[in-house]
Order: sequence, then C-alpha cells, then structure tokens
Amino acid sequence: MAGRIPPHFIDELINRVDIVDLINSRIPLKKAGKEYQACCPFHDEKTPSFTVNREKQFYHCFGCGAHGTAIGFLMEYENAGFVDAIEELAGMQGLEVPRESSGSEGPDYRPLYETLEKSARFFQWQLRKHPDAPRAVEYLKQRGLSGEIAAEFGIGFAPPGWRNLIDQLGQEQQTLNLLTQCGMTSSRDDSGDPYDRFRDRIMFPIRNHRGQVIAFGGRILGDGKPKYLNSPETPIFHKGKELYGLYEARKALRNIDRLLVVEGYMDVVALAQFNIRYAVATLGTATTAEHLERIFRTTHEVIFCFDGDRAGRDAGWKALETALPLMKDGREARFLFLPDGEDPDTLVRKTGTDAFETLLANATPLSDFLFDKLARDIDMHSLGGRAKLAEQAKPMLNRLPTGVFRTMMFHKLSETVGVDLSEQTTTEGRPARQRPLKSRSFLGTMPPLRRAIALLLTHPQFAQIENLPGQWQQISMPGITLLQELLEILQTQPNLKPAALLERWRGREEEKHLIKLSALMFPLQEEGLATEFVATLKSLDAKQHELETDQLLQKAQSTGLSDAEKQRLNQLLKSRVQGPETGTLVDED
Ligand code: UTP
Ligand code: MN
Repeated sequence: MAGRIPPHFIDELINRVDIVDLINSRIPLKKAGKEYQACCPFHDEKTPSFTVNREKQFYHCFGCGAHGTAIGFLMEYENAGFVDAIEELAGMQGLEVPRESSGSEGPDYRPLYETLEKSARFFQWQLRKHPDAPRAVEYLKQRGLSGEIAAEFGIGFAPPGWRNLIDQLGQEQQTLNLLTQCGMTSSRDDSGDPYDRFRDRIMFPIRNHRGQVIAFGGRILGDGKPKYLNSPETPIFHKGKELYGLYEARKALRNIDRLLVVEGYMDVVALAQFNIRYAVATLGTATTAEHLERIFRTTHEVIFCFDGDRAGRDAGWKALETALPLMKDGREARFLFLPDGEDPDTLVRKTGTDAFETLLANATPLSDFLFDKLARDIDMHSLGGRAKLAEQAKPMLNRLPTGVFRTMMFHKLSETVGVDLSEQTTTEGRPARQRPLKSRSFLGTMPPLRRAIALLLTHPQFAQIENLPGQWQQISMPGITLLQELLEILQTQPNLKPAALLERWRGREEEKHLIKLSALMFPLQEEGLATEFVATLKSLDAKQHELETDQLLQKAQSTGLSDAEKQRLNQLLKSRVQGPETGTLVDED
C-alpha cells in the first residue's frame, strides 16, 4: 500500500499504547516495584529478568540484553514486520494508520477494495430483493441461521445467471477490468467474454483486519459441486494468510482470550450465533505459519478443532508441526477432535453453547497430543520402543523456540523414556549474558558525547532544562549532529516518551547504537542525572573551547591570524571554561 507512515503517528501510538498491557496480554507480568517482570520470552531462564517499564515504555532483559519498544516487542516476539506491528497496535487503539501520499509508492488498491465492497452490497441486496431470494433465505433458515448473524457477517446471495454482477457494476470497460482483477469474473479462456464467477450461491464476504472485503466464499444451495467456490488469489487476497471471521471476532469481543480454528465458513457463523464469538476458519487450506502468527498476534491461546476421523487427525498433526516453532513461552495450543460425523456447526446446534465450551475447556494440550500420538504404536515397555520414541520426539522438540516450555517438554520426554535427554541449550542469535549494572560508575567512564546522548535519549525531559550549554554545537564530529537532532525533536515535542524517541531512529544507521545506549541506561534511577546531563554538556563546551583554541594557535604559527581571529583567540585564552572534566571524545564503534 502507498505511502510512508508519518513519524507523528508513531509518536502518538507509543503514547497511547501501554507496553505493560501489550506484553501482559501475551506474557503475564508481575509487578515488582515500579516495574513489571516475567521470565524472558527471548531466552531460557527460570527466574525473571525480563522487565517492562511503563514510564519509559521500554522492555529490557537483564539476562540476554533484549531491549526495545512496544513496536520492537511485536516485531521480535511475533515475528511481525514493522508495518504489521504498527497496524496491530493501531488496530488495538481503533486507529487507522495514515500514510503520507507521495504518488509513487506501489500500486493503489483502493479501487479493488471499492469494487469488492460494492459487490458485497449487491449480494446482500439480492438476498432481499431478487425473485429467487426466497429460495436462498429458505436455505439459510433451514441451516438454522438467524437474520442478525447473517447481517453481521454480511452474508448475501449471488443470483443465478451469468451477468448479474457484471451488469450491475461492470458496464464500463474500466470497472469490468476491476471486477476481473479482484476475482469476481471467470472466462472460458483468455480471449473469452468474462462472466460472473459466483452464480446461484450463498455469498460469504471475507474481510481483512480492517473490515474491508477482500474476497468471497460462495456456497451452493443444497447439493452440487463444487460445494464451495472461493475467490482466486488476487493482489489483495492471499488464502494462506487470511482467517475467515477474525475481523468479526475482534469486533464482537473486547478481549479475545483465545481463538478457535475450525474448517468451515458455516462453522464460524453457527458458533457466532451460539455466542462463541472467537472462531475463525482457514479458507480450505491447512493452517499455515502465517495464520498462526496472526492468531498469536491477537491472543495467546489457540484451539484447533478437527473432525475425529483419520483425515481430521492427520490435519491436526500437521497443524501441530506448523505450530511447534511458534510455541514461545506464554502461548498455548490445544486440540479438539470432534465425534465422528460432526462438525462444529452440527455439534453446537445439538449440544448448545455450554456443552460445546466444556469440550473446548477439555481440549488436549499440544504436549499430550504430541506424546500420545508418538507413543501410540510403540511398545513403551520395551527398551527399543522407548528409544524409538526418543528418536522421533527429539527432532520435533528441537523445533520449539528456547524457553521454559521447551525445557519442560524435554523433561517430559526424559521422564517418559526414563533417560536424561535434557536439551542442549542453544545460544543462537543472542549476546552472552550481561550482568545488570548496579552502579552508575560506568557513566563516568563514558566519553561525554555518548553520555550526553544516552542521558537525553532516556530522559527526554532534560531537553527542557533552561539555559543548557550550547557551545558544543560548533564541534564538528558525527555524534554532535545526533545530539543536536535529539534536542531539536524534544524542543518541538517535549512530551515524547523515550520509546517514541528511539522509534525515530528505526532503520537508520545509528539505531543499533541508540538501542545499546538505551539498554545500558535502563537500570539507572533518575536521581541526580539531570545535574549529570548539564555537567556533561558543560564538559563538551570545554572541549569545544579547547579545540578552537588549539586550532587558532596552530594557525597563528603557520599562516598567521586575521584581526578577528586574534580577538577571538584572546577571548578564548581569557575565558577558560571550567568543565568538570573533559573526557576523551573518542566515540566507540
Ligand atoms: P466442509 O466440506 O467441511 O464444509 O468444508 P462445511 O464448512 O461443513 O460446509 P457445510 O456445512 O456443508 O455448508 C470446509 C471448508 O473447506 C472449504 C471451505 O472453506 C469450507 O468452509 N471448501 C470445502 C472449499 O473451499 N471447497 C469445497 O468444495 C469444499
Ligand atoms: Mn458443515
């Protein structure tokens, strides 16, 4: 989609979203003084060193050094891209992500969304007004669907005939092209005349997370083949990513405690009618990792619901295999296999809401499903059988991300086979353990420019101190402009949180450097740091003084000085600025 996300929107997002709530909805946090703690989701540990700070809007791990903002957390924890993370946070706040229009930033899909929206409205209208509508309504009634739920899910009717939608929307070539681009027409071959793809079918609009219609599923009324016809892949519809019902679930529920993955459109709609508002369906495909990422971005628990037959069990196993690498601590996956011949739609109508939810409450945890299935055909009393189990389980458990859950699974395996198979701890991707810095003595050894940047970055309010020293601005070296930029931003936007400030550098060269400084400063109490900041700027001023003096003295010896320069040198020599210390101005890395 077009356009850069404007920085002011990111500021606002960081200001509105509370990182404590955000993380707490995924990893339960415990209050510890002014901060919140949990076991770190990014490395394996038994005592919590993962800390979330509300004031600064940072998370920080004293164990592995992970550090960042709410946006950074979503990106790390959920493997989300930057834009996805922004959309996610914006969605939670009910905000639309604005884009800076600049014309040339990729295709504009708005006409496709509009075309699909118009199509959806046309189908809904046909369900009321078309001469054949009573047949469709009768079908829906006989399936037990209430009018309210049908309206809520935007269910419609594509009447019989080859050119209903085309005649309604596609009179002009341009709009016909749009209908084709968004998959609403078919044709015999490339040169053939287009005709309506969906004919004489109940229409289920598929909506994206913003509620825009991006595709349709169409069910035949009664028997016939194919039972369901779906939109093809289009520029705005990718089957392997979308979940039917997710938008509706989010709209119906304020907090989504769990999501139930079912197979069919009708299952989602029927469950919703029985007030089980958290069901979503994959669109005739197996659950993909992208589906699961999206699910875990919404909630921490997923329950997969499958038929109890052989095919259902195989599908369940496949879902388990897809889920393994995503099972970070704090996430949960369970499996529910339904009695033979039932699907959620038929079952909930038979048993009612409470009985169905009881089934859900008793769904099999991932660990049980995994071990039970592996052990099923193995003689666990024989040594060879247990060895075989270990052999099969190990590569699977190795796909789990590091964390407590992984460790527990290896314990369980060891217990089951009676041999210690503790995992080999992996150290991939993370820096070695860092010890928390108890004292602030490191500040004194930091070159003053770095110190100033670090202090301002983590305490934006220091920019408001009156009469800050400013001579240093004339020093010409790379870090100086960074410090200037920080000050400038904060002078126009005094209320930025440290996290929002850090976000300003996302994707820029200095980003890593700033994250490091921010992490380093995290443990410090604020007390006395304002004085430290002023003193640091003073010492930078002193450095400037020294540099300028040296430069003029050198010039005096080589080419001589102009009158103005002589005056300046005199001034400088008289007014030695007394900085507390000058430090070295060597910037590391
Ligand atoms: P099912 O055959 O289990 O259908 O397909 P269902 O949801 O129970 O439908 P009803 O109750 O008979 O109306 C499950 C899902 O598989 C996809 C659809 O997404 C469907 O909801 N499917 C099925 C297709 O895409 N095409 C088909 O022909 C059949
Ligand atoms: Mn069904």
